[in-house]
Amino acid sequence: MAKKILIGITGASGFIYALRCITHLKAANVEVHVVMTKAAQITRSQEVKLSLTELKKSVDYFYPIEDIGASIASGSFQHDGMVILPCSMNTLAEMACGITNNLLTRAADVCLKERRTLIIMPRETPLHAIHLKNMTTLSELGAIIYPPMPAFYQHPQSLEEMVDHTLGRILTLLGISQGLTPPWQGWR
Ligand SMILES: Cc1cc2nc3c(=O)[nH]c(=O)nc-3n(C[C@H](O)[C@H](O)[C@H](O)COP(=O)(O)O)c2cc1C
Repeated sequence: MAKKILIGITGASGFIYALRCITHLKAANVEVHVVMTKAAQITRSQEVKLSLTELKKSVDYFYPIEDIGASIASGSFQHDGMVILPCSMNTLAEMACGITNNLLTRAADVCLKERRTLIIMPRETPLHAIHLKNMTTLSELGAIIYPPMPAFYQHPQSLEEMVDHTLGRILTLLGISQGLTPPWQGWR
């Protein structure tokens, strides 16, 4: 059976991470469910050329952020993990406090309470103590805090390559085989 992965997109910079993650998941025959915040509509329009209609067509399920009665709001809906990328400090704070007043934060809260894989890609700099405390809280609850940290030792030739290098490890964490981030072979 195909894996089911939830993608949450927020209004932090880095919409390209979500787009390319969706592309790689679809290429791996994953069933992709997407929910995005209202602020993510702004970053989408500022940062990528893809329209909302095109985005909706590229995924299997797209949920309105206010649809708190959607399947992914319930722990009874089985899936194989959720990735929030990029994750704003606002959504990070809501999740750390257990606030679930939209479908994205509710679906994330379900992952935490059901002990399912939740990968959070926070994006902000510099970070103040509340940001750091929120990440610690979520990490203690079992979430994986996965900031985008480009590596330079593989000499990326494009923005896409740099983004994909970051995404490869996320696919691995989700149990999906990938060729984006070849394992380090030591000095050869
Ligand atoms: C172009 C743009 C870039 C932004 N980048 C960031 C960012 O990198 N990190 C962040 O925490 N907020 C960023 N923001 C602010 C968030 O969008 C804002 O805090 C919003 O309330 C987040 O809402 P959400 O968590 O519901 O998506 C950005 C806003 C805009 C318009």
